Amino acid sequence: MNFRFRDNIEEMAGYVPGQQPRDSSVIKINSNENPYPPSPKVFEALAKLDGEALRKYPPVFWNEFRRAAAQVHGVTEEMVVGGNGGDEILTMLVRCCCDKGRALAYPVPTYSLYPVLAKIQDAPVIEVPFAERGQIPAELAKVKTGLTILCNPNAPTGTQVEAEKVRQLARQLSGVLLIDEAYVDFAEHNCLGLLNDCNNVVILRSMSKGYSLAGMRFGYALGSQRIVEAMIKVKDSYNVNIAAQAAATAALLDQDYFLKNVRKIKNERKRLTTALRKLGFELSESQSNFLLAKITRPAAKEIYEKLVQRNILIRYFNLEGLEDKVRITVGSREQNDALLAVLEEII
Ligand SMILES: Cc1ncc(COP(=O)(O)O)c(C=O)c1O
Repeated sequence: MNFRFRDNIEEMAGYVPGQQPRDSSVIKINSNENPYPPSPKVFEALAKLDGEALRKYPPVFWNEFRRAAAQVHGVTEEMVVGGNGGDEILTMLVRCCCDKGRALAYPVPTYSLYPVLAKIQDAPVIEVPFAERGQIPAELAKVKTGLTILCNPNAPTGTQVEAEKVRQLARQLSGVLLIDEAYVDFAEHNCLGLLNDCNNVVILRSMSKGYSLAGMRFGYALGSQRIVEAMIKVKDSYNVNIAAQAAATAALLDQDYFLKNVRKIKNERKRLTTALRKLGFELSESQSNFLLAKITRPAAKEIYEKLVQRNILIRYFNLEGLEDKVRITVGSREQNDALLAVLEEII
């Protein structure tokens, strides 16, 4: 059969995720996962799931999670949308906002899933380089789009734009502004306040990073009722399974455990930043759980390859502007020590 998919699907390349080895002897600091396990409350919630819970379809509107998110973030339940990971939240919004005549724009370098989602929708992509020190480029407000995404803190640079500057951008745009706060758990501030006065703003949060639930898949969005209603129209009917809903609710409600882990990661981030600088890497302060470190001698790619040989996985992006950098997830103290010991030998 000589069948053909839609032209845009035939022509596009899919998203390329980082390597995901299951071998626990590998020090895996390549996907910005949390080095600590999720809250004990998560395991209690999962243990309570019985045959009856699994037999039935899960709640369509993530009721318990919505209640928990409303309580933790001080919003109404109607402002919360649950997703099968933050990635599904991105899919829903690109579906709602982008098509052939409605572009997706974002500053680069950033999360490489964004253009893939636009291409699935057959929507034009407008990439505008970040201004100095990770600031919003002036052109971003001038381009006509269906959706603009600001990854804040940004991946893979770790820089963050202050809320007031994001508010100015939101006011200038005629389309929707998605603030991707997947890494905000490790930052000093967030953009939640914008939900009060910018009805075109929607904020993405992930349970994969600060809450250690990457394997469970749960992300969510906070936005005005109008945006939430549109997202619900385009989502899969039962988009989040019952275990993920229970786990995410329990994790979000255990703020003490979450804050304790985030504090540990921030302390390690500081220690790792200082140690990498001593080894000759150039890096700015990160507001996330990873560091983008520049090195030319030896070449960044060579460092990446030598670490792979020693069973340590970091991320190297062979992309313009990133050729001389590696991205390292902040691991546990033991993982970071192992990384630093091997780097000392290599350099
Ligand atoms: C910038 C950014 N946004 C969103 C996500 C989605 O995360 P998840 O689907 O695991 O919630 C990621 C994952 O790494 C990310 O880096």
